[in-house]
Amino acid sequence: MDTSKLAERLAEAGQSHVLQYWDQLSPEEQAEMSVDLESLNFMEINNFFKTAMKTSGQNSQEKVDTRMEPVPREVLGSVTRDRERLKEWEEEGLRCISENKVAVLLLAGGQGTRLGVSYPKGMYDVYLPSHKTLFQIQGERIRRLEQLAEKRHSRKCCIPWYIMTSGRTMDMTKDFFMQHKYFGLKEENVFFFQQGMLPAVDFNGKIILEGKGKLSMAPDGNGGLYRALGTQTIVKDMETRGISYIHVYCVDNILVKVADPAFIGFCTLKKADCGAKVVEKTNPTEAVGVVCKVDGRYQVVEYSEITLATAEKRSTDGRLVFNAGNIANHFFTLTFLKEIVRTHEPQLQHHVAQKKIPYVNTQGQLIKPDKPNGIKMEKFVFDIFQFAKTFVVYEVLREDEFSPLKNADSQDGKDNPTTARQALMSLHHRWILNAGGHFVDENGTPIPAIPSYSVTTLYFLCNISRHGPAGTVTPEVSQNLKDGTDLPIKCEISPLVSYGGEGLEHLVNGKAFQPTLVIDENGVHELVKNGL
Ligand code: UD1
Repeated sequence: MDTSKLAERLAEAGQSHVLQYWDQLSPEEQAEMSVDLESLNFMEINNFFKTAMKTSGQNSQEKVDTRMEPVPREVLGSVTRDRERLKEWEEEGLRCISENKVAVLLLAGGQGTRLGVSYPKGMYDVYLPSHKTLFQIQGERIRRLEQLAEKRHSRKCCIPWYIMTSGRTMDMTKDFFMQHKYFGLKEENVFFFQQGMLPAVDFNGKIILEGKGKLSMAPDGNGGLYRALGTQTIVKDMETRGISYIHVYCVDNILVKVADPAFIGFCTLKKADCGAKVVEKTNPTEAVGVVCKVDGRYQVVEYSEITLATAEKRSTDGRLVFNAGNIANHFFTLTFLKEIVRTHEPQLQHHVAQKKIPYVNTQGQLIKPDKPNGIKMEKFVFDIFQFAKTFVVYEVLREDEFSPLKNADSQDGKDNPTTARQALMSLHHRWILNAGGHFVDENGTPIPAIPSYSVTTLYFLCNISRHGPAGTVTPEVSQNLKDGTDLPIKCEISPLVSYGGEGLEHLVNGKAFQPTLVIDENGVHELVKNGL
């Protein structure tokens, strides 16, 4: 195999070391490696490294802190403070959906390292009674929303689902959707596309080898979306379909309101080109980015990029100053996205994450370092907020809309399969109570109608009462906490039956149920009572 051109390109970029084991590789390994190398632009990688290193680091972090301002009230809409406008926003969103103007775009190219699974996170089963995966829950929410919009406006409609994967997740994701018949959606309305990958480099910018013939590669961050949109046919497809608004979201939030009509309606009525959904951040060290202004421009300062001193700042009312917690749900107009792809994408800079990256040493042995030895470079999806002409922020309730699956189960853990499962069941418990149903135990004794709280919610409630205004935790809730009776009642409502708590009265009003309760398109099932 003639590698002279490749070797020349590598030498020019100061990356010749990646070929140091070339002679020890089999012809197949050599062929594979040269395919990988041919796809990379080494000069560009060197430039990414230089710029990323310049803008990261302790000094620049402190500088960002001094330039941060909280989101001003006038761009903020809130499901609690603006309750009287909710219906209007939702109506507007449903109208847009019924006119086929809304698409959803799922960011699912991450590697799920913290969760510790080798398959895409969307395929994870958090052990709900139905054993539905995150992908299935999201797909069914899309189907239900299409039905709601169709019913409201008496016209057939479709919400296309664009799914960004990476080299690591593409094939498994596609196969999973095929096996599950696209969760009842039409195959032609589900699109898969792939983001780019970048090599990990050491602190001198040298590409790291994870095998003698293998570069250490990782997806280029969820902001890799914009490059991927530019190189693939997604934007064209959206245009052809007449899409105007796109809801972009992350795969791991079990409560995500996919294409949330109220969020869409809020953004469109405000004539925004870009919007972000947030929850109130109450714990300074919570791993969520904060939406804020830096130098007068909207931005998310990521949890890894804010100093503790700034994260801990509180206003006189006890709330965190930077409390607009990013839940990775964004609204963009197609016009804005096109402008980003056409003009701004190259201006977006990579963020630097220092990592322990397995590498082969000069003897060719694989070493797993115990401290960071290099960096991964990633663009972030929210880095385009700065280019918005009209930016809005929409605040929702954590217990209704945010319970991300980040970590594997562990005692006292956060954001794991148990907390995700409990958050969903707790929400569904509240829906049943609101619709006039209630629960009884195996002896028929009513279970007190105090909706349970997820472990995460309790954690935050307690945190507020310790640090902020007193009295947030009711005595009943504290008692539940002490008794360990905070586990939610086991109940699950299929998204095909209810998208946001609607349409349950005729099924549950005035009725008593024994957990575990499952309500799906086939009816109401009390699993234990029915011996299931
Ligand atoms: C993300 C947000 C953070 C927010 C938090 C809420 C970003 C950069 N950060 O953080 O501000 O508070 O969620 O839960 O959005 N992904 C890709 N390609 C990649 C990397 C990730 O598609 O190269 C996808 C993942 O599949 C996932 C999403 O992006 O759906 C978020 O990735 P993750 O690494 O979990 O982000 P967090 O650090 O948790």
